[in-house]
Amino acid sequence: MSTQAKKRVLSGIQPSGEIHVGNWLGAVRTWAKQVEDQAEDNLYCIVDAHAITVPYEPAELKRRTLGLARDLIACGVDPARCTLFVQSDVREHTELAWYLATVTPMGDLFRMTQFKDKSDGKEFVSAGLFTYPVLMSADILLYKATIVPVGDDQVQHIELARETVRRFNHRYGDIFPEPEARLSVTPRIMGLDGEGKMSKSKGNSIDVFEPRDSFWNKLRTAFTDPQRLRKSDPGRPDVCNVFTMHKALGSEATVLEVRESCTGAKWGCVDCKKVLMDGFDRELVPLRTRREALDEGAVARALTEGADKARAIAAETLREVRGAMGLGSA
Ligand code: AMP
Ligand code: TRP
Repeated sequence: MSTQAKKRVLSGIQPSGEIHVGNWLGAVRTWAKQVEDQAEDNLYCIVDAHAITVPYEPAELKRRTLGLARDLIACGVDPARCTLFVQSDVREHTELAWYLATVTPMGDLFRMTQFKDKSDGKEFVSAGLFTYPVLMSADILLYKATIVPVGDDQVQHIELARETVRRFNHRYGDIFPEPEARLSVTPRIMGLDGEGKMSKSKGNSIDVFEPRDSFWNKLRTAFTDPQRLRKSDPGRPDVCNVFTMHKALGSEATVLEVRESCTGAKWGCVDCKKVLMDGFDRELVPLRTRREALDEGAVARALTEGADKARAIAAETLREVRGAMGLGSA
């Protein structure tokens, strides 16, 4: 199948911290599988322009952007087989975001739960945080991507992008296809404290590349079924975050064994977590090895090439958009 005939996939991740287990099981692991499969044309973007919508350190941002690129490649987002790039290297993202903002109602943006969560109680809330989902729509529409692999917290933003496509196409002609979210089997990983979703900002996460010892020390304390106080109490796998992770990592037979051992009170939670840790080891050890072997120069070159590939597509879409909107002098 030629590249043009393949469906296009786009997704993004913010360089706001290390990749944690939620990012990985909710999104990045799916990206790597898709890159491996080559059934679609995959674009993955490190969204640095999104990360500046909340207070940040400039030098730190650059370091994190390059570090995240290395980690994504180590996770299997192979730049030789997909387009991996940094959002702000392709200026067309911010240009399209402005044009899309003119067809996006403020009322829709006020309804975004991520905006409500991130602005709640803050003294300074930037206009950029408010229009964040418009930039995200631009990321997707610039490449006319139809598939967006994300965790469930991003579904509302993708619904907004679909709405934006309908508004834009109605006004300016049939330019963009409607994108759809693609969820993994574990679209929402809870934090270690069981208080809410695992998130960099809540300090309730385990990083994919943290040393095995601290990884295990965090996993062993992870919140499970609150009603299970003793090993002899039968557990409820369907309310347990550890079971959710087994569903992502374990074979069908393992998942069944975990379920039966939990409901039958044969295993305690630590036994169950040890089996889960084996699953993490199986998958993460090769990623750690790959990460050690990656040098900075190769990562930087991959990003330059990725941006060039992305820009070629983006420039063509913008030419079309500017024409349809009657913008410019030429
Ligand atoms: P972010 O770190 O916010 O840029 O998120 C990158 C990707 O990870 C997005 O697709 C998110 O939906 C996904 N993600 C983040 N946290 C979680 C979580 N706790 N469970 C599942 N997916 C998540
Ligand atoms: N908003 C997403 C997040 O916080 C990141 C993101 C930015 C994204 N642009 C995107 C995801 C485009 C998918 C497609 O996780």
